[in-house]
Amino acid sequence: MKALAASLALAAAAVFLAAFAPPQWRWDLPPGVAPPPVPADNPMSAAKVELGRRLFYDGDLSVDGTVGCFNCHGQHRGFTESNAVHPGVKGAPGRRNAMMLGNVAYLSALTWADPRQRSLEAQVLTPLTGEHPVEMGMKGQEAELTRRLSADACYRRQFAEAFPGEPAAIDVPHVAKAIAAFERTLVSFGSAYDRGALDEAAKRGQGVFATLGCAACHKGRLFTDADAADPLSAFHRIEPANARDPGLSEITGKTDDAGRFRTPSLRNVALSSPYLHDGSAKTLAEAIRRHDGAAGIGDAEMADLTAFLGALTDQTFVTDPKLGLPKTRCGKPL
Ligand code: HEC
Ligand code: HEC
Repeated sequence: MKALAASLALAAAAVFLAAFAPPQWRWDLPPGVAPPPVPADNPMSAAKVELGRRLFYDGDLSVDGTVGCFNCHGQHRGFTESNAVHPGVKGAPGRRNAMMLGNVAYLSALTWADPRQRSLEAQVLTPLTGEHPVEMGMKGQEAELTRRLSADACYRRQFAEAFPGEPAAIDVPHVAKAIAAFERTLVSFGSAYDRGALDEAAKRGQGVFATLGCAACHKGRLFTDADAADPLSAFHRIEPANARDPGLSEITGKTDDAGRFRTPSLRNVALSSPYLHDGSAKTLAEAIRRHDGAAGIGDAEMADLTAFLGALTDQTFVTDPKLGLPKTRCGKPL
């Protein structure tokens, strides 16, 4: 009898533990910051994140082997890069400025002007197989991608570990899931601002930021409103629309959406010049003055404002070796 009770208790404990299993991934977050949401059909695991990281840094994901995610999203620049727009494979012209990827897992509206982009898994297909612009050029090359990755024994092992029980997992949907899992680890809450370590100029700049109402759009701890339940609320027109880029109206077809773009996060912004959706502003001051009504900000106020934005740089995030180019592959040094 006792033995039965004990084994029942054990079984109950097992059920309890399964229901409250520790998360497969632990984010290193400051107090008060919740982990990002994770879709039920793409749970986190260390093996999946490691696979996603390798894929993020692999030029073989592009048609001619020359362009990987990291070419446009370089860690040292906050996962952006220094061109106004970056060409895709075979010199295909770029269209918009690459975006900072820190805390992207918290956002419900992705990219500058396409409100249909709501999940990291789906967004991966845009650079991979998109044609407007062509970035990695893999449209129609899905079987080739499977062939290439399957030819590598370490990739075979990594896919098996990342997607246990899914024998045919080396394909575009699983590539996207793994990369999305890696992107969810790109959290950035380690700046001087987060540590409450603002210097005097940055403190004054924080005051200017508040007074000028910047946080109406560059909101809260993410410094963007792109985490709102209604993704359309994150698209704003900060200057008159121009003919070069229709912005949100390209997708919605509404005239009033012309020139609207999604609020970019200002975290790590000091590292990510040039600015705005087309990379047309070279400095922070220039980007800020382009906002309606901001042209008249005085030089002293501007210096303080840029000092505050500088205090949003997270050195740990942009140098963390766990987020950089992998140095080992299946346990072996490269
Ligand atoms: C040729 C340059 C280029 C390559 C390669 C590239 N990206 Fe991007 N990325 C961009 C640009 C430009 C944007 C903004 C696109 C737009 O809004 O039209 C962007 C936007 C994003 C966003 C949205 C970020 C946000 O805040 O909304 C994510 C996520 C992203 N890229 C991930 C990736 C991943 C993953 C890869 C590899 C599979 C990749 N990118 C490859 C240039 C690139
Ligand atoms: C009405 C919403 C709104 C307000 C208020 C606002 N911004 Fe912006 N901000 C945006 C949008 C949208 C963009 C992108 C516009 C584009 O790409 O054309 C942007 C872009 C920026 C950029 C460039 C970031 C990058 O990565 O390219 C900086 C810097 C910036 N804002 C700072 C500020 C400051 C400082 C204030 C207060 C003086 C402010 N913003 C007020 C919506 C806003």
